[in-house]
Amino acid sequence: MMARRLLHWIDERFPLSKVWNEHMAQYYAPKNFNLWYFFGSLGLLVLVLQIVTGIFLTMHYKPDSALAFASVEYIMRDVPWGWLMRYMHSTGASLFFVVVYLHMFRALLYGSYRAPRELLWILGMVIFIALMAEAFMGYLLPWGNMSYWGAQVIISLFGAIPWIGEGLAEWIRGDFVVSDATLNRFFAFHVIALPLALCFLVYLHIVALHKVGSNNPDGIEIKENKGADGRPVDGIPFHPYYTVKDIVGALVFLIIFCIIVFFVPDMGGWFLERANFEPANPLQTPPDIVPLWYFTPYYSILRAFTYPFLGVEAKLWGVIFMGLSILAPFFLPWLDRSPVKSMRYRGWMSKWALGAFVVAFVVLGYMGTKNPGNTDLFWFQNVRWAQIGTVFYFAYFVLMPFYSKWDKTRPPPERVR
Ligand code: HEM
Repeated sequence: MMARRLLHWIDERFPLSKVWNEHMAQYYAPKNFNLWYFFGSLGLLVLVLQIVTGIFLTMHYKPDSALAFASVEYIMRDVPWGWLMRYMHSTGASLFFVVVYLHMFRALLYGSYRAPRELLWILGMVIFIALMAEAFMGYLLPWGNMSYWGAQVIISLFGAIPWIGEGLAEWIRGDFVVSDATLNRFFAFHVIALPLALCFLVYLHIVALHKVGSNNPDGIEIKENKGADGRPVDGIPFHPYYTVKDIVGALVFLIIFCIIVFFVPDMGGWFLERANFEPANPLQTPPDIVPLWYFTPYYSILRAFTYPFLGVEAKLWGVIFMGLSILAPFFLPWLDRSPVKSMRYRGWMSKWALGAFVVAFVVLGYMGTKNPGNTDLFWFQNVRWAQIGTVFYFAYFVLMPFYSKWDKTRPPPERVR
């Protein structure tokens, strides 16, 4: 009774029940969501985890090139529970990308980027780029040797841009090399500017989602089939059905998360690189400068260009194509000309194209972790594999207007399965 009166008191002053009903209790989502629909809510969970653990790390971290490395060691060894916060944050960073990549793959699988969800997709892509910037800047903070050289390599890429490149790289670093000034500004971006932007972008992403409604594995619009009560016949209220389902997903995720944090926090070098357990040393490059796994597909594309062409040096081609590879997905809503959304009702061409794209992405990712001159996979040198992967990566996008149109599709059902 007290609670009801309190709610009434609040509702008179703030639209609490209205918002709850509109976005949860009377928000109708397709009833055929599957495993792939867990990753949006998991993204929210990881975002919160990163912010909370980040706050605790910031309490003891020192953004000063003379103190940063030692302050992280202090957090790991002396601060009560500091090791837990640090490992949760480093594991969370990698799992954030696992979750987001699977979330994006779902959109490719079911055509979720297509009308009317173009803006939802574009907002997602902006989130993805902001997340990459967030991870890149965060990686400099421990001031390990890979932090230092990774930043050095990536920022110096801007130097390849004609005319303005060198000035731009210097402006980003705030110095001629990565230095204390760089560390300070990356700290500012990592702890406040980008998290703020990410939260705002995620908010816009959800607003856009709730305007158009979720897609689903059948790729049909449930809003187009409403019952006499005005509700979609294939929809169920988000709360309680999907709140409960998402809690199950969150529990499974947290179990995996805990196993990594408590048993293999460095994931054999994939989540925390060995070279980063040594302090930054401007006089000694690590044997192989390699970013963390979530950047390696793009890093591979960067390194796949080895010959100058049209009077443009190889490095600049690499930079251009790496940029294009990150931008290409923005255009998907306009490249896809299939009459159906979901892969379930598409023909072999779209299915093979998506399969080849995934394989190319994984091969690029793997090659990005290896020395280009070695031969780690049969037959060719790693750089050749990266070149083949790059061709397949771009072919997926460039040829999509053709294969998506020529492909033989099946008519989707009237109702969701
Ligand atoms: C911090 C990162 C992100 C968060 C927290 C987030 C959150 C969400 C949530 C909660 C949903 C609804 C549940 C679901 O469909 O799984 C959703 C849907 C969606 N998101 Fe994201 N998202 C993120 C990043 C992205 C990115 C990077 C993209 C693509 C580039 C993207 C594209 C989409 C699309 C297309 C949908 C609608 C899918 C459908 O209805 O089939 N999101 N997102």
